[in-house]
Amino acid sequence: PDVKRIRNFSIVAHVDHGKSTLADRLLEITGVIKPGTEHAQVLDQLQVERERGITVKAVTASLNYTHNNEQYLLNLIDTPGHVDFANEVVRSVSACQGVIMLVDANEGVQAQTVAVHSLAKRNNLLIIPTLNKVDLPRANPDKVKSQLKTVFDIDPATVLSISAKKGWGVEELLQAVITRIPPPIVKLDDHFKAHIIDTWHDKYRGVLCLAYIHSGKVRIGQTVKWRSGSKQHTVKFLALLRPQEEPIEEAGAGQVIMVGCGPKGGGSVGDQLLSIDCADTGDAITVAPVRHMVYAGVFPADQSQHTQLSDAIKKLALNDSAVSVTPDSSPALGQGWRVGFLGLLHLDVFTQRLLQEYKAEAILTAPSVPYKIKVKGSKIIKQYKGEEVIITNPLQLPDANNIAEYYEPLVIGTIITPVEYIGAVTSLCIDRRGTPLPSNAVDDRMTMLQYILPLSEVVVDFHDTLKSITSGFASFDYQDYGFHPSPLIRMDILLNGVLVEELSTIVHVSRLEYNARRLTEKLKEMIPRQMVQVAVQAVVGGKVYARETIKAYRKDVTAKLYGGDVTRRKKLLKQQAEGKKKMRSVANIKIPRNTFIDVLKK
Ligand code: GTP
Repeated sequence: PDVKRIRNFSIVAHVDHGKSTLADRLLEITGVIKPGTEHAQVLDQLQVERERGITVKAVTASLNYTHNNEQYLLNLIDTPGHVDFANEVVRSVSACQGVIMLVDANEGVQAQTVAVHSLAKRNNLLIIPTLNKVDLPRANPDKVKSQLKTVFDIDPATVLSISAKKGWGVEELLQAVITRIPPPIVKLDDHFKAHIIDTWHDKYRGVLCLAYIHSGKVRIGQTVKWRSGSKQHTVKFLALLRPQEEPIEEAGAGQVIMVGCGPKGGGSVGDQLLSIDCADTGDAITVAPVRHMVYAGVFPADQSQHTQLSDAIKKLALNDSAVSVTPDSSPALGQGWRVGFLGLLHLDVFTQRLLQEYKAEAILTAPSVPYKIKVKGSKIIKQYKGEEVIITNPLQLPDANNIAEYYEPLVIGTIITPVEYIGAVTSLCIDRRGTPLPSNAVDDRMTMLQYILPLSEVVVDFHDTLKSITSGFASFDYQDYGFHPSPLIRMDILLNGVLVEELSTIVHVSRLEYNARRLTEKLKEMIPRQMVQVAVQAVVGGKVYARETIKAYRKDVTAKLYGGDVTRRKKLLKQQAEGKKKMRSVANIKIPRNTFIDVLKK
């Protein structure tokens, strides 16, 4: 098609403001799916997405639409709707020229609306402000229009009103996509150059890529190369995604297509696919490098499943380029991996996908955030080549005497809350070591608060706590604010004087006594009584901050059974033997394996 009649756009919104429902309506109007297939949510392909009702992977749908007797190709690039997946959002918008910004006409502007608006602005995308759910009796379009004016300076006259559910106003919205969003600016008569915005793995065809073509054309059978490599490949698969694949022979600049070069053809997100005569590879779309916000140890439930889990993780990591995977091992849990995630939901979704799509069961340790340190006299500590080191596991921390400075990751948190909860939200943020930034009114009932918060205080349960203290009315979103100096310290756990390395944590000095008490108390609860008395100590640099004692006890599981029932007795002994296998032994103290998994979780 003529580039002038291509529109590449995305729908961005706060969670639950109706993105998937609108996508379904657009697919219906353009004839992709039959009207009336309610809740079809065609773009939400993964099982996880259907179950949780959240969009995880960015996918695309190429739609045909006739406007003023002219055929248009509308590429709807779906974006995930959750803070954790901000990186995928950035990637998807890199192929767009405009966005439909949906705002629930009842709920109004929410924290994530602020985030997606600034993302669109930063990427110079045209924004079509659209109120959704105007069919709801409590919808108040005028109120929300004035919020949009106050918060983003959006002219109320440019705001559209729709009901994605009922289909009201959706035709007008499609026309606005054509008249307001500019066509892609690309060169058709140039060398072929495409940017990879997504990849997934196909059993038979190898890596398949979602690509945005910047310039030139591509054909089945054409010889191409990756910007990252020198090997030549042949284009084997080309298709439009509608969103089902529709094979095509050729595609040109401005289009968003599926491309594959066969099982050995490779392809990864952020790379470029080029014609072999293409020397100029400049003006690549820069995708912000992935920042891993949360790390967790991932281990097979049983070491015999190591190979299977390893395979599954490899495949999933290819599809989910936002995870980082490095081998890890622990005396308690065996051989495994340290995996970096964008956030807690990302971590959840990753494990769920491992199980559902790859039938691999994994054990996850408590999540932690990365820290940074500046090493004193780096020449002495040979394993650290640079001066500044990112620490993803407390055990990597060198001796405190060799650390010149500690840094922890901070975020800017945006909270939109009804005014009556300002007090409660403020206390929560202060309690989580937050520093307030200027606040802004959204309207006479809602306020936008912003805080600089330590990521470690946010990742665990901040969002849940915020929701519960505001009866679910406040919304939250955060963006990375980088590493900042902070008084941190490594806290170790000793059992009868012996260090249990898996239980070391990095804590803020103001939290030291609280964490020391909490951890020792929890360990006392989780470690069963032993033949000998066990002292549980939380220590920092030789100083004990908390101590608990587990009294000695001779454990005899059959003691309760007097005489008789031999089978029952045998069964109990067998269970006990199996239980023992799942123990880690430290200084003759048997610790159940799940202690290592659960004790650091909140
Ligand atoms: P994420 O993928 O998690 O970001 O959610 P989403 O933005 O895709 O929201 P979704 O389309 O799943 O809609 C959320 C809820 O709002 C669903 O229960 C929809 O049925 C409902 N909904 C969406 N549009 C409308 C509408 O126009 N009117 C009414 N009454 N309900 C709607």
